Amino acid sequence: MAEPRPGADEDPLRSWRLGREPYYVDPGGQIEAFEAACAAGSPVLLKGPTGCGKTRLVEFMAWRLGRPLVTVACNEDLTASDLVGRWMIDAQGMRWRDGPLALAARFGAICYLDEIAEARADALVVMHPLADTRRALVLGARNELLRAHDDFLLVASYNPQHAGGAQALKASTRQRFCAIACDYPAPELETDIVSHEGGVERSFAARLVELARRTRALGSAGDAALEEGASTRMLVRAAQLVRQGLAPRQACLHALVEPLGDDPEMLGALRAATELAF
Ligand SMILES: Nc1ncnc2c1ncn2[C@@H]1O[C@H](COP(=O)(O)OP(=O)(O)OP(=O)(O)O)[C@@H](O)[C@H]1O
Ligand SMILES: [Mg+2]
Repeated sequence: MAEPRPGADEDPLRSWRLGREPYYVDPGGQIEAFEAACAAGSPVLLKGPTGCGKTRLVEFMAWRLGRPLVTVACNEDLTASDLVGRWMIDAQGMRWRDGPLALAARFGAICYLDEIAEARADALVVMHPLADTRRALVLGARNELLRAHDDFLLVASYNPQHAGGAQALKASTRQRFCAIACDYPAPELETDIVSHEGGVERSFAARLVELARRTRALGSAGDAALEEGASTRMLVRAAQLVRQGLAPRQACLHALVEPLGDDPEMLGALRAATELAF
């Protein structure tokens, strides 16, 4: 990432701008809630199972608000310096390099902390002053108090079904956000998504959705072998395999059944459900 030089480049985040409107189907009030939180100056926390459209919602909102999107994939090795920035040595000597959080705050982007619950609490504390009314980031290593650009927005997501879930976040972190619950859309809407994204007929997409709903019922029944049922992402993938010429049963086997787990009994039940559906 090149060092941003204010003035030398009028839009240092232009490569993070989304050119085309991302396809997004609102499952019910997500866009309205996101916009209200954003207008109120609040950071936004999206919570929901894997593959239900959290990232797509953020992409859509970045496009709609006309702001660049800087994404950080959180993990336990992420440090405060990774977010804020650090001094680097190169042929010209020492120079400061903004981290993604500082870059977004300086130039007015959406900073998206994906899987925030994976990050260590001490790394996240640096964003606290940015996530409340102060809207500032302390760059201690370079003695700078960076006041956030008006367009800066902090967005984070996590999956409540993962170990730890929200409890992995400090209350003082969690309570700075407006939280929006995300889930798989109603069958009609999910059918639209699978048909559009997978490029298949609605009638076929509807059968995939029905199959997914059965696997979700297994997941929510507390079956230890199945952590979560099939996601919208998996259905799109199955549809895409069919578009590539695979028979529906084969497509479901590779896109839905095998990725869901390894327990032989559970796999048998999923295969049987697939054969019933197709
Ligand atoms: N509401 C939606 N509108 C349009 N497409 C969607 C929607 N929900 C899911 N999809 C489709 O499902 C795919 C997965 O969605 P997305 O990447 O947003 O999931 P996610 O919730 O961010 O998952 P993860 O928690 O694993 O990152 C998208 O690439 C898109 O094809
Ligand atoms: Mg995502």
